[in-house]
Amino acid sequence: MFLQHSTWHDVAAYLERSRGIIIPIGSTEQHGPNGLVGTDALCPEIVARGIADEIDVLIAPTISIGMAQHHLGFPGTITLRPATLLAVVRDVVQSLVRHGFEHCYFLNGHGGNIATVNAAFSEVYAETSLNLESMNRPGVRCRLGNWFDGRRVRSLSRELFGSAEGSHATPSEISLTWYAFPDAVRQPPMTPKIAPQGPIRDAIDYRQRFPDGRIGSDPSLSTPEAGERLFAAAVEDVIEDYRRFIAP
Ligand code: NI
Repeated sequence: MFLQHSTWHDVAAYLERSRGIIIPIGSTEQHGPNGLVGTDALCPEIVARGIADEIDVLIAPTISIGMAQHHLGFPGTITLRPATLLAVVRDVVQSLVRHGFEHCYFLNGHGGNIATVNAAFSEVYAETSLNLESMNRPGVRCRLGNWFDGRRVRSLSRELFGSAEGSHATPSEISLTWYAFPDAVRQPPMTPKIAPQGPIRDAIDYRQRFPDGRIGSDPSLSTPEAGERLFAAAVEDVIEDYRRFIAP
């Protein structure tokens, strides 16, 4: 069930059955020579659609712009500052809490978002803790779950790509987008085959260290078939994690 395809009556009826919601969150940033700029936002959204086919859960609109300052040396990247994303996450949670949602599960597609989203959760909790009027009321619970971090996806990525998985513009995430959008498949030449590793600093430093945008990965191994298997694994992983999260 998708929030944007629901009426407010639908949402009110859903709240009678459940107080949980899944909010996909990602980033709009370069993903190397063959990955889509939208990869990190598309992946959690693709997985969320699979989850909605399996269980009764409301899916919020995707927050598709995140922490991507280090990718600004490549055209197409859009970033928020950490303080902006923090405010966005806090406002989204508090809007939902106002309607009675208690369990906000952020299904994340971008490692760079993790620190800021967790800081936003601390802000949400601090507001409840510091507000004397909210004492003795059930508090909101927030969780960030990465679609790529569950045990099924981790083990499948290892089996499919081994050390060529890397950490940015990975064959796993690109395969998942190619499964959902087969027209995106392309195989430009890439050298070296496996991209360099290194620290992440600002955009100028990043472009010098990682000239084609990848970190540690060989995304020429991506295939829609691998994406289909990763999709099934991610849907199972996230449903398991979400069920644990909303359990009393
Ligand atoms: Ni990514």
